[in-house]
Amino acid sequence: MAFKNLLTKVEKNIGWVIINRPDKLNALNRETVNEMIEAFRAYLFDTKVKAVILTGSGEKAFIAGADIGELAGLDLDTGKDYVLNGQELTKLIENFPKPVIAAVNGFALGGGTEMALSCHVRIASENAKMGQPEVKLGLIPGFGGTQRLSRLVGKGQAMELILTGKIIGAREALEIGLVNRVVPLDDLHANCEALAEEMAANGPLALKLGIEAVNSGFDIPMDEALLLEAELFGKCCATEDSKEGTKAFLEKRKPDFQGK
Ligand code: COA
Repeated sequence: MAFKNLLTKVEKNIGWVIINRPDKLNALNRETVNEMIEAFRAYLFDTKVKAVILTGSGEKAFIAGADIGELAGLDLDTGKDYVLNGQELTKLIENFPKPVIAAVNGFALGGGTEMALSCHVRIASENAKMGQPEVKLGLIPGFGGTQRLSRLVGKGQAMELILTGKIIGAREALEIGLVNRVVPLDDLHANCEALAEEMAANGPLALKLGIEAVNSGFDIPMDEALLLEAELFGKCCATEDSKEGTKAFLEKRKPDFQGK
């Protein structure tokens, strides 16, 4: 896959999506968002890819937000359309049937925090800076930040971040549960790779159904969510992978999952 604003590679069953606009601190213009949609869709159908890592090129920025040059020209209709396009990407990532890890390597502001929020897990480097500074531009988050941030860190912490627009460091992001862990910048890729490999060694259908169970059950009443879990558990039991996984345990060997 060749893109203007992204670097992609597949190594050891991991598909990388690397935002590559270093002169703009990897800010997301519409073209980059559309390229990301294309890259994730390609990984969806690539059977070699068992997990995805999203990061930014260089050592300074993950994604410094939506491209403010583009935001400046939006109006009532184009503004709505603009964020619906970004939301299409965040929904694609959030519901991706393979684990997606955000390697947050520096500034992750506005749309940057929102892209990280849509990933299944976030690992930050010590120099990471996160936040939703849209109010400072007279705007609000539009790539899902008003919804996913409050669901992840709680309404109070989300309100404080969204209403102040303040930027927080990696340690504070960890304290409020915005990231899963913080590692030195030099160790970020290795750490994310190890986590992706750990996940990718598991049954692919179980990963897919596990993501679906957590996501689909999150916003519905508990009884419905538990019923959904039971249905998806039943689906797992009907897979060859679950037969292989349980048999391998009993035979004291490593499972050989085929994704069937
Ligand atoms: N959109 C468009 N361009 C951006 C950008 C964004 N979100 N963030 C950074 N850039 C550009 C800058 O305009 C600058 O371009 P230039 O060299 O052509 O002038 C380049 O990236 C480098 O940024 P700069 O501001 O010089 O770096 P810095 O180290 O002084 O500051 C930030 C870094 C992240 C604090 C600062 O760039 C910033 O506040 N960016 C906007 C963050 C934001 O509000 N994001 C949310 C948007 S909804």
